[in-house]
Amino acid sequence: MKLPNHIAIILDGNGRWAKNKGMPRSYGHVVGCDNLEKMCNTICEMGVRYLTVYAFSTENWKRSQEEIKVLMNLFRRYLKRCERSAKKNQMRVKIIGDPGGLEPDIQRSICELEDMSRDYDKMFFQIALNYGGRDEILRAVTRLAEDARQGKVPEGKVSEETFDSYLDTAGIPDPDLLIRTSGEQRLSNFLLWQLAYTEFYFTDVPWPAFDKKELAKAIEKYNERDRRYGGVKGQKPEEGASCL
Ligand code: FPP
Repeated sequence: MKLPNHIAIILDGNGRWAKNKGMPRSYGHVVGCDNLEKMCNTICEMGVRYLTVYAFSTENWKRSQEEIKVLMNLFRRYLKRCERSAKKNQMRVKIIGDPGGLEPDIQRSICELEDMSRDYDKMFFQIALNYGGRDEILRAVTRLAEDARQGKVPEGKVSEETFDSYLDTAGIPDPDLLIRTSGEQRLSNFLLWQLAYTEFYFTDVPWPAFDKKELAKAIEKYNERDRRYGGVKGQKPEEGASCL
């Protein structure tokens, strides 16, 4: 069984899972949080090197003030707890997204967590907070244009490598497997550039119920996929061949 080098997960379905149990949505988020800690440990023990999760999007601010407050308090608690997991798993943690839109104390916790984990290299864990794929691309283009104006970017066509280096995920390989829990089959503005050749796996299981067994199913399906990256199996690219 081949392990994906990088798994990305859209953590969806906390609210519906809780509602089905006759509980408030906030209960789903609490259990979703605990599950993230558990699954992050599991994924690390399996030997997967990169994990990226979508926790809060640039569009999630449309939710009620009450729910946003619950989520922000959970993130506060999680960022502190994550220092323990980072140490245990020898895991470097990075927050992707626009931290400027978050409360100052959350921004401080992010800096502390990133700082304390910066030398770990067994696993690399990215948490998308106040993240939007389009927002990330626009922020990257803005910085790239400014650097180009100052002559810091090679003249001419911008290469994929150069553009990559301006994204929040600079230095992180693209995901091999994207999992979305809870039945929806869309990207919801997650890693729009990075998912170009990623294999997608959608499951009806909501995030709080997504466990090691469900993860094994996703990896099994991933192993059945034939990744050709636009090429043809068994055929080597010919020199000077035109690519259609
Ligand atoms: C998706 O469920 C969950 C969210 C948008 C909230 C954030 C995720 C967590 C709290 C899990 C832990 C993450 C971190 C980083 C601590 P939903 O509310 O969209 O559920 P629904 O689709 O059923 O309404």
